Amino acid sequence: MTIRAVVQGVGHYLPARIVENAEFAAKMDTSDEWIKTRSGIERRHYAAEGENTSDLGAAAARAALAHAGLQADDLDAIILATSTADLTFPSAASMIQAKIGMSVGFAFDVQAVCAGFVFALSTAQGMILSGQARRVMVIGAETFSKLMDWEDRASCVLFGDGAGAVILAAEQGAGTSQDRGILATDLHSDGQFKDLLYVDGGVSTGQTGKLRMQGREVFRHAVEKLAETAHAALDKAGLTGEDVNWIVPHQANIRIIEGTAKRMQVPMDRVVVTVQDHGNTSAASIPLALSVGVARGQIKRGDLIVTEAIGGGLAWGAVVLRW
Ligand code: UT7
Repeated sequence: MTIRAVVQGVGHYLPARIVENAEFAAKMDTSDEWIKTRSGIERRHYAAEGENTSDLGAAAARAALAHAGLQADDLDAIILATSTADLTFPSAASMIQAKIGMSVGFAFDVQAVCAGFVFALSTAQGMILSGQARRVMVIGAETFSKLMDWEDRASCVLFGDGAGAVILAAEQGAGTSQDRGILATDLHSDGQFKDLLYVDGGVSTGQTGKLRMQGREVFRHAVEKLAETAHAALDKAGLTGEDVNWIVPHQANIRIIEGTAKRMQVPMDRVVVTVQDHGNTSAASIPLALSVGVARGQIKRGDLIVTEAIGGGLAWGAVVLRW
């Protein structure tokens, strides 16, 4: 017998404002055609003025609690993956804790940019297996629209805002790859590549800053590293690509998603794709895709899921879990 961190509920929230590609084409030198063919993105959501990451995260958290039939005080911890916390400190996780009326436990942020949700899932699993917490809400929430340089057509068309949340709880498993819950994780970072994707502001500059990306270089690393980390995580779980029901990838670019699935020899009809509707929502993209995948009836209890992501750092990794 072994303890597993098993999913009990999932939920998401998208801000009301939807921005179609045509809106960009009307005000800068780009086109719906370019954005769609180079990235797969058709539209994205933007938070309203005064609507912040903790608001999006709290809405997703409430949806996940409702889905699981739980109250906020049934949680022991909140781990929020974000690079767009409302303020430098305190953590946006502690703001979410207050917003959902959770009066117990603890909350903190994890910062691994687009790979943040994978790192947060792994952190939550570690806390559950070590007995520090029995039930953990893992949230990915971002407002990347607040980091865009609206003069940089190569990046500003790609990102969107949103939030997703998953509740994990300790359950007994048999210790086999047939167990529900997280079966394996694989995490990496390499700070040598910090200049490929970063924000040129922060405490050292006195300004929030704007996102800067060498898209082509990040793309090259993404296809190679994502398939590698997904294979490594499957290996650790004693499974292969053939066992996978769903790849739920970070939603940055449809060409990266397709390239990774191809290398894993998993057909695209076993990949959850939301990039066309959400754009790249950084750490929120995987929990958003999980929640949408469940709502669409794609992901069902018992399905084997591989989730993988890469982003600024570079930081990348994968998690294998049975839903
Ligand atoms: O989530 C974190 C990880 N991030 C990613 O995974 C993003 C990875 N990178 C990508 O998704 C792709 O590299 C992009 C979508 C950013 C760009 O696609 P690409 O095929 O790598 O294009 P490129 O950067 O090589 O640019 C091709 C051309 C350039 O023109 P020239 O130099 O060939 O004349 C760009 O100036 O496309 C031009 N371009 C645009 N044209 C119209 C760049 N942005 C735009 C635009 N509209 N919005």
